[in-house]
Amino acid sequence: MKVLVGVSGGIAAYKALELVRLCVKAGYQVQVVMTEGAKQFIQPLSFQALCGHKVRDSLFDLEQEAGMGHIELARWADLIVIAPASADVLARLRAGMANDLLTTLCLATDRPIVFAPAMNRLMWANAATQDNVAALQTRGWQMIEPASGEQACGEVGAGRLAEPETIFNIIRQQADKLSVADINADKAPGLVGQHSIPTDHQAWWSDKTLLITAGPTYEDLDPVRFIGNRSSGKMGFAIAEAAAELGAKVVLISGPVNLPTPPGVTRIDVRSALQMFEAVKQYYAQVNVMIGAAAVADFRLAELASQKIKKQAEQDGLELKLVQNPDIIGWVAAQADKPYVVGFAAETQQVMAYAKAKLQRKGLDMICANQVGEGLGFDTDDNALTLITQNQEWPLAPSSKTQQAKWLLGFIQQTLETTAAN
Ligand code: C5P
Repeated sequence: MKVLVGVSGGIAAYKALELVRLCVKAGYQVQVVMTEGAKQFIQPLSFQALCGHKVRDSLFDLEQEAGMGHIELARWADLIVIAPASADVLARLRAGMANDLLTTLCLATDRPIVFAPAMNRLMWANAATQDNVAALQTRGWQMIEPASGEQACGEVGAGRLAEPETIFNIIRQQADKLSVADINADKAPGLVGQHSIPTDHQAWWSDKTLLITAGPTYEDLDPVRFIGNRSSGKMGFAIAEAAAELGAKVVLISGPVNLPTPPGVTRIDVRSALQMFEAVKQYYAQVNVMIGAAAVADFRLAELASQKIKKQAEQDGLELKLVQNPDIIGWVAAQADKPYVVGFAAETQQVMAYAKAKLQRKGLDMICANQVGEGLGFDTDDNALTLITQNQEWPLAPSSKTQQAKWLLGFIQQTLETTAAN
């Protein structure tokens, strides 16, 4: 994801530093363009130190243009974000002017543009500014509402720049919306080594069928109690959605989760590991790829109580006898007519070592190592997978599960294409 951050004049320009930092941390490539006004408030060098690129500020500097011309720069970006957007820059953008680099870029691009206004409350409330904002919105530009509060000028009202985290979250939503063409493996930052990139995803996936397991399993103790786990199902559902978007046929076998079925996906709801196993057995032989993202319970009750287990007055504890559940993905990987099998390894420690051991033990083709805890993994929107095959490793930068799902599908395609070619 390539983000062009346009910074215009205003005391809030310093907040754009935090925004750039958040984008770089997320693995996005960032270039910064400053207006003359912005440079009155903040040094270009501060941005350069954060994003690793020289800040662009001029249309007419031959040295800057020699590096990347302004039209090339407009094409380079996947998304343009103007933060802060001053009243002056909004007026010039609305008029379609091209009298500095930032306005020229916005005129010369067909990429989405997001802008976060920041100015004095009366300037913000002025009919001229409101007209300009409305006109830009009708052109499809996305406005990030300014916040209310105390302003740098001492007045109180609406016009403060939205918080960097708020702006960043909107950039991330845009990243998730990027077309399927953007699942290319070379866009996954943090990758080890270079890879040849499959180009035509849609054509490749349109004749493939995927089987995905997702969510937890619940192992019942009695008619009202069960043993479960904290898997939300979000990762498996994100993969199902991305694969269906690519045109693949998708069968999603899901444990109890609270998620809508992605469009075009055939969903089969199950509760226990044994039910998931039965459903998988029905489908595995008809698919090209199986992805086991479910957190299947390792054990189930040896005997299910037919009535609610009652507590006795003098009872100190309760012993439950558990027996092992079948290893669903391991079973599929051992079949002669197995598909390409991808598993997950969610670990709290020694992630890589455990994941590699699991790849071998279960006989998988690929495993997605997954550090759980600290805002990643279970029951969160973000993840940072490392994809491991018998001879390669691809660490993905932390990002939304939707983005991780697209990269994962890109790598599965690449691996299968390479295998087919050899
Ligand atoms: O052994 P562990 O549960 O850590 O392995 C994780 C991987 O194996 C996941 O892909 C999970 O979906 C799959 N699995 C399975 N059946 C089990 C246990 C795990 O398919 N009984």
